Amino acid sequence: MKTILVTGGAGFIGSNFIKYVLKNRDYKIINFDKLTYAGNLENLKGIKQNYSFIKGDITNIEDVESLLKQDFEYIVNFAAESHVDRSISSPNIFTHTNILGTQNLLNIALKKDLLKFIQISTDEVYGSLGKNGYFYEHTNLSPTSPYSASKASADLIAMAYHKTFNLKLNITRCSNNYGPFQFPEKLIPLMINNAQNDIPLPVYGDGKNIRDWIYVEDHCEAILKVMENGEDGEIYNIGGNAECQNIEIVKLILKELNKPESLITFVEDRKAHDKRYAIDFSKIQTELGWQPKTPFDIGMKKTIQWYKDNTKWLENIVSGEYKEYYRKMYGGK
Ligand code: NAD
Ligand code: TYD
Repeated sequence: MKTILVTGGAGFIGSNFIKYVLKNRDYKIINFDKLTYAGNLENLKGIKQNYSFIKGDITNIEDVESLLKQDFEYIVNFAAESHVDRSISSPNIFTHTNILGTQNLLNIALKKDLLKFIQISTDEVYGSLGKNGYFYEHTNLSPTSPYSASKASADLIAMAYHKTFNLKLNITRCSNNYGPFQFPEKLIPLMINNAQNDIPLPVYGDGKNIRDWIYVEDHCEAILKVMENGEDGEIYNIGGNAECQNIEIVKLILKELNKPESLITFVEDRKAHDKRYAIDFSKIQTELGWQPKTPFDIGMKKTIQWYKDNTKWLENIVSGEYKEYYRKMYGGK
């Protein structure tokens, strides 16, 4: 049985990916995670078979080199600082973790007989679109936030390791994920949590910014396809085929939870707020036969229901560091 080293597996997408793989395939998983504010072992409760956890930091060379004692054939790198707003208030840790941390992993990858390194990137590396057009794999990188700039940099380093050292690799660039276990700093879980607790829903600017949304399980399926069948050295865009304005999502959440629209508050806009993301994913569709399965309305219903059923999970998060984050971030808005 082959083994996948998953980094950042205690976070939102990583934990969903581990569960997806263990449910659908025969792999062993080693989950390597620093357990930052965003990492939560509760996300992986109950998993015992073919799974082990190592606490460690991708920016710590000793921690990363200690992984050389383990046997694995794949690395899937989810570990990152992932929130744009935090990258505006504290940019340095984004450079440190997302770029240097990735490079440390690439360095150990060279010392292993690896079948594939998968760098989990984002559509945000392409920057912002106007009303028309799509991001393609060949679209120029034009990141605007310290988060997206750090992810774009990591992509460039990763691709350089492929070209220079023949490291077998793919980069995936996905649009906005939503679903169970997402930390409530991101739009959808934040709005669900606030609505459930009758706290105002802070919409940035005019609320007309557009994102493409993908149900997290569909993203996990795409990553696994790329890992198993993606052509070496290729970049794959992954999208949900569900463009939506932020304000439409907020209204949908309020409707689903039977809460009044008077809870919506328009607050100061995010700095350099990207207007629109939209992704062309025809390459993965034609080459690997993948397309998203979950329509947005169904995915949203499932997600809202999950948060309703898992209030304890949410309470544990919002009672900790989150309180201070929320006060700093939204207190003055
Ligand atoms: P997340 O913030 O929920 O989880 C990140 C995980 O990485 C956490 O478990 C955290 O503890 C871990 N981590 C952070 N720094 C670490 C370090 N130095 N060493 C080891 N572990 C560390 O993020 P997410 O939303 O699950 O995103 C996962 C990946 O997918 C990221 O690389 C992100 O850029 C990318 N991505 C996210 C989205 C999205 O919509 N959330 C979309 C496209 C791509
Ligand atoms: P977010 O979930 O942070 O993802 P990203 O910025 O990586 O796309 O935000 C999604 C959109 O929602 C983005 O346009 C910013 C907006 N937003 C709000 O209007 N209010 C909020 O409180 C948050 C967190 C986001």
